[in-house]
Amino acid sequence: TATPTETPAPQIVAGTAPGFPPFEIKEDGELTGFDVELFEAIVAETEYEFGGWREFEFDALIPALRDERIDAIAAAMTITDERDQVIDFSDPYYSADQSVIVLEGGDFVPESLDDLSGRMVGVQEGTTGEGVVDTQLIEEGKLQESNKRVYGNYTLAVQDLENGNIDAIVLDQPVGATFADQRDVTVAFVYETGERYGFGVRQNDSARQQAINDGLAAVRDNGTYEELRNEWFGS
Ligand code: ARG
Repeated sequence: TATPTETPAPQIVAGTAPGFPPFEIKEDGELTGFDVELFEAIVAETEYEFGGWREFEFDALIPALRDERIDAIAAAMTITDERDQVIDFSDPYYSADQSVIVLEGGDFVPESLDDLSGRMVGVQEGTTGEGVVDTQLIEEGKLQESNKRVYGNYTLAVQDLENGNIDAIVLDQPVGATFADQRDVTVAFVYETGERYGFGVRQNDSARQQAINDGLAAVRDNGTYEELRNEWFGS
């Protein structure tokens, strides 16, 4: 136990948005996944004490970070210019493209974004998948705003796809592939975006940013990163 003269170790409270397998999932009430295990391993390499997880919808993570309700975001968050204006990111830790998933064995088998014209398309609010639908389809006049269905998380979107309420979902390719393994859906095609995920930190919190970068380098060096990758992606 700490004596009164000792200052407690500074903390990192982490925020995530579960329902995004295999990065962050809720299993029997327990939070787990690649990001969850990786981020905890990273913090363990630092001087910081891990302050636990807080769960949010994805689009609430950046406001929570800025309001100091959390100190870091570990949520398969793509490093984008827009986000980089309001938060800072760690070094990239994973690469991904987008994918389009549809009902397995269904009649609708799109081969390109154009094939989504006039269909009901699901996305998670505030994601780069929503960005693809907005910029490549709606702004191009290929899809009506009312044909976009926005969900708080992708698990709800997959349910709607299975129930026939929507025709397709645009989401990160590793997550599309995981839903294809677990649910009655299949990856119709991949749409290359070359995204890279980073851990979010508050702007000017260079101490935590540096600690997370050093921790990431350490878990890459000591084999933990590869172990977790094998565990969660089997490759
Ligand atoms: N990579 C995408 C983005 O940054 C989707 C992330 C969604 N993450 C989540 N935990 N639901 O917009």
